[in-house]
Amino acid sequence: MCGIIARIGADDGVDRLLGGLERLEYRGYDSAGIAVENGAGLAVQKCSGRVGDLVDSVEDSGVYGGIGIGHTRWSTHGPPTDDNAHPHTGATGEVAVVHNGVIENHAELRDELRDAGHEFTSDTDTEVIPHLFERHLADNDPEEAFRQAVRDLDGSYAIAAMVEGEDAVFAARQGSPLVLGVDDDEYFLASDVPAFLEHTDEVVYFEDDDVGVIRPDDVELSTLDGEAVERSSEVVSWDPDETGKGGYDHYMRKEIENQHVSLANGIEGRVSEEGEEPDLDEFPAGTFSGVERVQFVACGTSFHAAKYGTQLLNKAGVAAQAFRASEYDGSIPVDSDTLVVAVTQSGETADTLAALDRARRASARTVAVTNVMGSTAARTADDALFIRAGPEIGVAATKTFSSQVVALSLLSHRVSLDAAEEGPWDDPAAYYDALEALPNHVESVLDFETAEEVADRFLGSDAFFFIGRGLAYPVAIEGALKFKEITYEHAEGFAAGELKHGPLALVTPRTPVFTVVTGDDDETTVTNAQEAGTRGAPIVAVSPSDHKITDVADAHLPVPDTHPDLVGLLANVQLQLLSYHTADKLGRAIDKPRNLAKSVTVE
Ligand code: F6R
Repeated sequence: MCGIIARIGADDGVDRLLGGLERLEYRGYDSAGIAVENGAGLAVQKCSGRVGDLVDSVEDSGVYGGIGIGHTRWSTHGPPTDDNAHPHTGATGEVAVVHNGVIENHAELRDELRDAGHEFTSDTDTEVIPHLFERHLADNDPEEAFRQAVRDLDGSYAIAAMVEGEDAVFAARQGSPLVLGVDDDEYFLASDVPAFLEHTDEVVYFEDDDVGVIRPDDVELSTLDGEAVERSSEVVSWDPDETGKGGYDHYMRKEIENQHVSLANGIEGRVSEEGEEPDLDEFPAGTFSGVERVQFVACGTSFHAAKYGTQLLNKAGVAAQAFRASEYDGSIPVDSDTLVVAVTQSGETADTLAALDRARRASARTVAVTNVMGSTAARTADDALFIRAGPEIGVAATKTFSSQVVALSLLSHRVSLDAAEEGPWDDPAAYYDALEALPNHVESVLDFETAEEVADRFLGSDAFFFIGRGLAYPVAIEGALKFKEITYEHAEGFAAGELKHGPLALVTPRTPVFTVVTGDDDETTVTNAQEAGTRGAPIVAVSPSDHKITDVADAHLPVPDTHPDLVGLLANVQLQLLSYHTADKLGRAIDKPRNLAKSVTVE
């Protein structure tokens, strides 16, 4: 939630700040602003609306400067108004601050500052920070004043701040992501690497409690207590072209269409030469001996991927459960024999990080399955498995779901071989053959042009239902989530067998039922679809072409026939396309659906 950026250089950097904000818009897009220092004081420009509105107003104002901070907001405290947009300034205007996170003691701090004569102009929790900074500036140099202001705060924050007349940006991190980009003659700070990846791929991740003072020719990192710290730099392997739209109308379309590439990256070099078991550098054979149970913690789309991992482990005889991270509370037994796997694309989802913390406090062994190197989940868990999907900018997760499923299938196989001495498949070679073929199969799904026709045919329906059984169930609930998220239409996913236990009451001729089948053990699902069909609901089969569900279906979204445990992934690509085309026909903001942000850093 919210993206922050800073650019610290000698020449004018306003375009770079604005470009960075555009690339961070997936983190929030209801208001935006920048502050720059150009020798004539701090110039602040901000407004409600998209970054594009800010760009127009900055162009009109002609504001410039080499050192600046910027913010794109997803509101938590106060509605998206001009006043609530960041940067926030103090009483005198000599300090400007951008912040991502939540200041939990903002109400007490506000009362205290008000009593001392400070006046506030916004509803945000952030506004206390520049006031505190300003107050401490009265008796301290800027660095110490910043440090003291940060010490006053409780909660989570990534902060970038400026002081009039100082050629520096002051930064601090606690619980919210912050990464430094190092270029030859300039530095960047941002919530996420894509903000500056076109300029540099050399990065230094801030740790919690780090404070940075960044000048055009120098960076000093220390703890909040002032002790100098060394953080080594890393080179990010993402291709800067991946962060652009690459000629597509929407990032989501690009990310759906490129998923064969991300899948190939996620599989490459991770299968044994015999093609029968995983070969993960991170987890050699035997790593998980002694694990008695596996608990996945995740939210949204990542939770659906986690359910896939759960089912593979259960098939292999390993006790596994997937928990929605926000529900993973103290009532769930966890101990040192438990492996807790946090599945999180961003690695920054607050609910998932809280669940991970709980698992660590209970001495569980932890693994993060994530897309983002240097993310909090990757650094907090005992080990990390990267899904290698490349940057995903569209708010709706698409390619990262399929990459998560692949990474989880490899991890689950490793865990089950180590912990139960058997895997989920009688014929693992058949699974791995199909896995190697998966990127090509995804490409063939993209060649079918049926999703757009089906989207057109059912436009205007009252509701959209998605059903599936076994490994098709996570796909059904993921299909429904994607559909509601970007079309704003009512969509629900159900376990196929559950339809008759209540949801069938909702079924009418105006509610298509998308039925996902995998080609294995599907008779009952076909019967469940027929139960809806006899109540008049149009049945849309999402299945291989010669599957018996097509005999009872009114429409068909075809997928190549492959291993039954991978058909669901291909069905999911069809459902992503269905959501995309429906949203497009309805004129929705596909990449930035209303009220949603990609990285949800509040609980
Ligand atoms: C849906 C979507 C969200 C995320 C969820 C978890 O398309 O993107 O449901 O999956 O917010 O995010 P991560 O995976 O970053 O923890």
